[in-house]
Amino acid sequence: LREHEEFTKVKNIATIELGRYEIETWYFSPFPAEYSDSLKLYFCEFCLNFMKRKEQLQRHMKKCDLKHPPGDEIYRSGTLSMFEVDGKKNRVYGQNLCYLAKLFLDHKTLYYDVDLFLFYVLCECDDRGCHMVGYFSKEKQSEESYNLACILTLPPYQRKGYGKFLIAFSYELSKKEGKVGTPERPLSDLGLLSYRGYWTRVLLDILKKHKGNISIKELSDMTAIKADDILTTLQSLELIQYRKGQHVICADPKVLDRHLKAAGRGGLEVDVSKLIWTPYK
Ligand code: ACO
Ligand code: ZN
Repeated sequence: LREHEEFTKVKNIATIELGRYEIETWYFSPFPAEYSDSLKLYFCEFCLNFMKRKEQLQRHMKKCDLKHPPGDEIYRSGTLSMFEVDGKKNRVYGQNLCYLAKLFLDHKTLYYDVDLFLFYVLCECDDRGCHMVGYFSKEKQSEESYNLACILTLPPYQRKGYGKFLIAFSYELSKKEGKVGTPERPLSDLGLLSYRGYWTRVLLDILKKHKGNISIKELSDMTAIKADDILTTLQSLELIQYRKGQHVICADPKVLDRHLKAAGRGGLEVDVSKLIWTPYK
């Protein structure tokens, strides 16, 4: 039975159509039984309803009146917009998004209770509408100071800096809440690479500016990055020494410059002046 289950798990949806893209999927996703025998699913790129046949999607597109995710636009800069979708107010959309996301997330269990989450959906907008690029989800209340549950950049948009933009955005929300945050564990390989890249770039920039004269606590206050994540990042960069029972930052300017050169591009910036948002209550 176990083998059979594993077998059916990989024999799931192989491709999806979403907007102008046909995308090959990566992992199993527990779509409702009537869809799970299809090799291909057709998604409405705006409401994320999915269908088994192209004709159904074409018919749907004639009457679907959404041109962006349902919810509040909380950020707009150039052609990029971020929408905040409350899983409780838009339950079907939240569930559809989870089904879609699971196709690219290996280790996550699917959230059935979307009520407890907010979804931040990043879009590129043009005259045809706002096209989803990626998203992250966030628990409305987190005991463990998680500021992000799941993050995804859709494959056609990956490696262009959107992942780091989404991560930066999650920390901007934490700053507005006056809290530190950390992503839910475990992280995927790509998730860890992206976080490491983000943490490294942000911390090195500050260390450079302050010539290394700054504590982990101060770094955490400035960035909303949890102290543990700061410590592991700086340790991996060999910028931490252990003295008299304390971790201290030892930021030799030459070492900083070497790391900064290696840290690569900064990615897309979040322009905080364009974020109009108040924390969830
Ligand atoms: N190979 C090597 N390095 C990579 C790759 C890759 N394929 N993709 C990303 N990276 C690293 C690079 O260091 C990159 O920075 P660089 O381009 O400056 O070198 C950095 O990650 C971030 O790149 P971005 O372009 O900003 O990120 P992207 O838009 O590609 O999104 C994400 C990253 C969200 C992790 C994406 O790969 C994804 O959606 N993966 C599938 C879902 C997933 O694994 N999500 C994370 C799960 S953990 C969690 O949800 C808490
Ligand atoms: Zn639709």
